[in-house]
Amino acid sequence: MLKIVVMVSGGGTNLQAIIDGIAKGDVKNAQIAGVISNNYGVYALERAAKAGIDSCVVSPKDFTDRENFNDALLAKVKEYSPDLIVLAGFLVVIPEKMIDEYENRIINIHPSLIPAFCGTGYYGLKVHEAALSRGVKITGATVHFVDKGTDTGPIIMQKAVEVKEGDTPEILQRRVMEEAEWKLLPAAINKIANEY
Ligand code: GAR
Repeated sequence: MLKIVVMVSGGGTNLQAIIDGIAKGDVKNAQIAGVISNNYGVYALERAAKAGIDSCVVSPKDFTDRENFNDALLAKVKEYSPDLIVLAGFLVVIPEKMIDEYENRIINIHPSLIPAFCGTGYYGLKVHEAALSRGVKITGATVHFVDKGTDTGPIIMQKAVEVKEGDTPEILQRRVMEEAEWKLLPAAINKIANEY
């Protein structure tokens, strides 16, 4: 049984997709041990509570400097002793120590077809704004292993999504979530739990 920690920053729709995927049996041999948020009061925490999953907040606001925050984050992750860490809309740079300790055991979902529209500064709606202003006709989502770069780790799965006439960043974000992210992330976890 693959023990997962899911890290979140916001609404948690990708967390929900994992919860639902496990409940429906689409994701086999995996369980969520805990959810960690860097923000208080986000809806992802409610989603965890509703599913009866343990959760906690480790916020940089509660620490005097980044190093203390990073140490607390790593300590919290270790408490759950996960086999896999899933970044599901977690908008914090992962401490190097965590990447060293969990090499090839951290995955991230990014809302574009990497290597397009990724790297520093490309997160959330900004990714879709950039895709629309470049005028691409196809975008999508990527699940990849996390290494020390930003969105540079080995790609596990990708799914393409059509950009349509009249799309706003919000409309495109929603389509990428529905058609790609919410399918891709549970599928990648299922693959890791059962194939690797
Ligand atoms: C998702 O679109 C995810 O791909 C993106 O943040 C959103 C979180 O939504 N992540 C990044 O941009 C990472 N660079 P959610 O909280 O509803 O899952």
